[in-house]
Order: sequence, then structure tokens, then C-alpha cells
Amino acid sequence: MNNLFFIICFCLCIQTHASASSNSSKSNTQFPKEAHPTISGYLSISKTSSSAFFYTFYEAQNSTLPLSKTPLLIWLQGGPGSSSMIGSLYAVGPWRITESITFEPNPGAWNKFFGVLFLDNPIGTGFSIASSPQEIPTNQEGIAKHLYVALTRFLQLDPVYKHRPIYIVGQSYGGKYASTTGNYILKRNARLHASKRVNLVGVAIGNGIIEAVTQSRTHPANAYYEGLINARQKSELEKDQLEIVRLAQIRHWSEATIAWRRLQGKLQNMSGLATLYDYTRKDHPYHYQDWVTQFLNIAEVKKALGVNETQVFKSSSSNVGEALLGDIMKSVKFMVEELLKSNTIRVLLYQGQLDLVAGPVQTAAWVNNMKWEGIEEYVNAERKIWRVNGELAGYVQQWKSLTNVVVLGGGHLMAADQPVNAQTMIQDWVLQRGLYQNV
Ligand SMILES: *[C@@H]1O[C@H](CO)[C@@H](O)[C@H](O)[C@H]1NC(C)=O
Ligand SMILES: *[C@@H]1O[C@H](CO)[C@@H](O)[C@H](O)[C@H]1NC(C)=O
Ligand SMILES: *[C@@H]1O[C@H](CO)[C@@H](O)[C@H](O)[C@H]1NC(C)=O
Ligand SMILES: *[C@@H]1O[C@H](CO)[C@@H](O)[C@H](O)[C@H]1NC(C)=O
Repeated sequence: MNNLFFIICFCLCIQTHASASSNSSKSNTQFPKEAHPTISGYLSISKTSSSAFFYTFYEAQNSTLPLSKTPLLIWLQGGPGSSSMIGSLYAVGPWRITESITFEPNPGAWNKFFGVLFLDNPIGTGFSIASSPQEIPTNQEGIAKHLYVALTRFLQLDPVYKHRPIYIVGQSYGGKYASTTGNYILKRNARLHASKRVNLVGVAIGNGIIEAVTQSRTHPANAYYEGLINARQKSELEKDQLEIVRLAQIRHWSEATIAWRRLQGKLQNMSGLATLYDYTRKDHPYHYQDWVTQFLNIAEVKKALGVNETQVFKSSSSNVGEALLGDIMKSVKFMVEELLKSNTIRVLLYQGQLDLVAGPVQTAAWVNNMKWEGIEEYVNAERKIWRVNGELAGYVQQWKSLTNVVVLGGGHLMAADQPVNAQTMIQDWVLQRGLYQNV
């Protein structure tokens, strides 16, 4: 226990130090007016705690509907502990950060037809405040409760938000947040007068980590058939995977998480890949976390966002990572099933095809045996070829409220790799156009 405590403190100190020494002569960095959120600030979790969610909100720019009817998307980054500011400033927001810490317009902005709310979740993540590490939730129920409070507070900020159709989008481990919060809202709604309900319409999960133990089972064969490892290496990884199963069975959840990470590390070592999140990358592509961190630690930027200058931004929180270490391997497949069974919530699963951690193969492993009356029809539904501007973009499979999209040319953070196709996907799915019309 002492050792663990030491390690956590150690990591924190290192990170704080690194952030504090970021280049302050960059303080004149351009923060284009268009890249400023419509509003941003804090949403407190209760009257008795100083813990609060940080958010940025970008209103729809070109909605064809009145704003009061324009869909509202909520973006939740994964991790656990990754800031949604990555999604905002690098993936789906209106402007994208570059290596020189300047901005360029995002051709795939999600706030063209929809308002997009980015929440640093759970508390302790990004600019969100945890009054103490103990207040950070250690399970999905705690996270859903907090998110529900944050969301309802946000909706009260302006009458124009109140009754808009809401879609929760969870990236990677954020898929769990989206599933469990969706369920929490359903349960609350059932007990509330219609005027007080949260108008949840859909849940989207991008390269989701929903049933990690099942997903981990696919790694050896998946890598083998991609030609990344040989048969002997495949057998070795299969043994490691059995250890994950064993640890999960005896509910040693944190150890199971560590065993999964070890398996991934081994696969990365065996294959020599720069990252398993995109098996076509020979160099590590993920420097945007550093760019976002540099940018958000500039005093003027904090001021513009309504953040106290004393707050240090970290793109990934080790406190949150530690709090939820034991949650990662726990399945929330039943939560997705509940959403489908409700017959009121639409579910979108989408995956960048190049991701070996939570890509199409890993997703199919838990989706295809879901307990839901429509699953057989879904599995046997036609897989439609999807083109954007005449070019092959991926594949869409749909039955009733369940839609699955495989996006070619994208890795784990697909929306950043294929911005235009990601934008087309989310717009067509939300607005039920093209291949996404309900059957
Ligand atoms: C800080 O940024 C400036 C301007 O980009 C650069 O010239 C300088 O070398 C940087 N200093 C450090 C310590 O990185
Ligand atoms: C909204 O439309 C204007 C005019 O066509 C365009 O310049 C702008 O980029 C659009 N905004 C978004 C977020 O797509
Ligand atoms: C991967 O290789 C590095 C360098 O040889 C080593 O330090 C590390 O322990 C290896 N990781 C795993 C999970 O085998
Ligand atoms: C910023 O935070 C510091 C330290 O927590 C506090 O003393 C100060 O009052 C805060 N400033 C504002 C403007 O809230």
C-alpha cells in the first residue's frame, strides 16, 4: 500500500513539474476567435463539495433546425483519465491544434449541425476539479451519478438547451461512461414527469472498451492473421490471455487490467509497431496530447476558458487512472443490451479499422452474442458498402436501433484520422440519412 501511494505521488510530481516548465514564451499563441467555445466553465457536483466538472460547449454553426430542436452531442474521452479537450481541440471540435501550437479549421467539425459539449470526466480529469482523490468515483455507477448531475446542470444554463435531443458519444473506455450514463438517465426518466426528463435519444461508442476480457481474447489471432506475429508467438499470447481470464474470474480486477496491458506491451514488442492503436504507423503518431497540454497551460488561454490560472492542465490524470484501474476489465455489455431493449435509445458502434486494441474484431467479439431480441437479425443483416464523395469509406451494418460502422483508414481515435468521414457518419446517423435510415 505504501509503495502504491509512493508511486502515485511520484507520477504526480513528475507530471506537475513537466507541465509547469512548459514554454511560457508561447503565451502569444493564436487562439482564433472561432476556436473559442460558445461557453465554458464549471458545473459543480453538489452543494457540499468543491468538486466540479470543466466543460466547453460549441453551439451548432449551420443547423437547419431552430436551436431549441438542434441535437446536442456530449463527447466523453476515455482513459480512464484522458481529457475531453483532446476530442475538442484535436478530433471533432471546429478548429484543430497543430504541432506549432497554432490552429487550423477542422474540415470534420461536429458542430456544423449539432451543439457539442465536451466534459472533462470524471472529476479529477483535465481541468475538472476533484476536491480530494477519494472523491473520484471508482466505479461506473459513481461516474453515471456525477455525469447526470453535470448534464442536468448544463441543460439548465439556458432555456435553449432544455429539450434538445441528446446523444452521448464515448471514445474508447469512454464507451463505458456513455453506456452506463445512458442507462442511468433511462432509469431516472422513468420516475420523472415528462417535463423533467433528459431527452436522451442515442448513445455512440467509438473504438469502445465494453467487455475487455472478451476483447483481449482476439489479440493473438488478430495479430497473427495480420502477419504481425508467428504461430509460436500467438501461442505465447494465448497463454497470457488465459491468465487475464483467470484473474477476472477470481475478481482480481486491477491485476487483470495490468495483465491486459502486459499482453499489449508484449504484442507491441513482438511486432515492433509504434502503437497498437494504429498498426500502419511506424512512428509514434500521438504527440497531440503534448500540443493540447502546452496550449491549455498558457495563462491567456486559461483566462479565455474561465479556468483559474493556478490550475495545471494534464491531458491524462494518474489519480483518475488509479481510481478506475479495477473497473477497466468489468463488462458493461449488459448496459448496452439494456439500451437496445428499451426500444427508445439508438446505439451506434463505430471503429477505426486499424486499431488492434478496440477495433472491429474486438467489437464483434462482444457484440455478436449480445442478449437482445434483434441480435440474430443484426448479425445476419447486410453489410453495406459506404462511400463518401464517391470514395470507399467503410461499412455499415444495421438492425433496428443498433448500427455498426467500420471506418477504413482510421485508428483508435478514428475521428481525428478520418475527420470528413467521421463527420459524415455522425451527421447521417443522428439525422437518419443515407445508409443510416431506420429499417
Ligand atoms: C520557447 O518557444 C520559443 C518560440 O517558439 C522558442 O524560440 C524557444 O526556443 C522555446 N524555448 C524553450 C525552452 O523551449
Ligand atoms: C458553417 O457554414 C459556413 C458558411 O458556409 C462555413 O464557413 C463554416 O465553416 C460552417 N461551420 C461549420 C462548423 O461547419
Ligand atoms: C518490451 O521491451 C522492453 C525493452 O526490451 C522491455 O523493457 C519491456 O519489459 C518489454 N515489455 C513487455 C511487456 O514484455
Ligand atoms: C484561484 O485559485 C487560488 C488557489 O486555489 C485561489 O486562492 C484564488 O482565489 C483563485 N482565483 C480565482 C479568481 O478564483
